[in-house]
Amino acid sequence: MQKEDLKELYERVKKKVINRERETRNILAALAAGRHILLEGPPGTTKSTLLQVIAEEMNTPFIMVEGTADLTPSKLLGYFDPAQAVAEGYKPEHFVEGPLLEAMKKGGILYIDEFNRIPPRCFKCFNASH
Ligand SMILES: Nc1ncnc2c1ncn2[C@@H]1O[C@H](COP(=O)(O)OP(=O)(O)OP(=O)(O)O)[C@@H](O)[C@H]1O
Ligand SMILES: [Mg+2]
Repeated sequence: MQKEDLKELYERVKKKVINRERETRNILAALAAGRHILLEGPPGTTKSTLLQVIAEEMNTPFIMVEGTADLTPSKLLGYFDPAQAVAEGYKPEHFVEGPLLEAMKKGGILYIDEFNRIPPRCFKCFNASH
């Protein structure tokens, strides 16, 4: 992303989200550097809204996952439809893509709400997807 584009993007986000200049700059810097972000804060302090607005203004696909204790690597990455795999084998067309794969393929932002609730067995998916 060019410096001028970033500045313009920052100004557009600023118009929609009030009083989050520092957070916006930090998030945009991390995104421009291709890094992941962990947003932490009390309820109702614009975490989701800020990310949604940034993705919208960047014109980037925004894929949201609800972070719960029963999230699994298969749910995140994708899985072969059991019934179809049994009937016809493990064919690519029977693979149900998960949100992580979808975000990687589309080059979008994967937003995991309540990341603190997801079980540790899911962490390896993120290590492998840098
Ligand atoms: N700084 C702000 N500028 C504009 N709208 C805001 C701002 N802060 C909060 N809001 C509004 O307050 C509501 C709650 O914000 P949001 O859902 O983004 O918070 P959150 O930090 O994701 O909360 P939670 O931790 O509960 O998920 C939204 O409807 C949002 O539009
Ligand atoms: Mg939220």
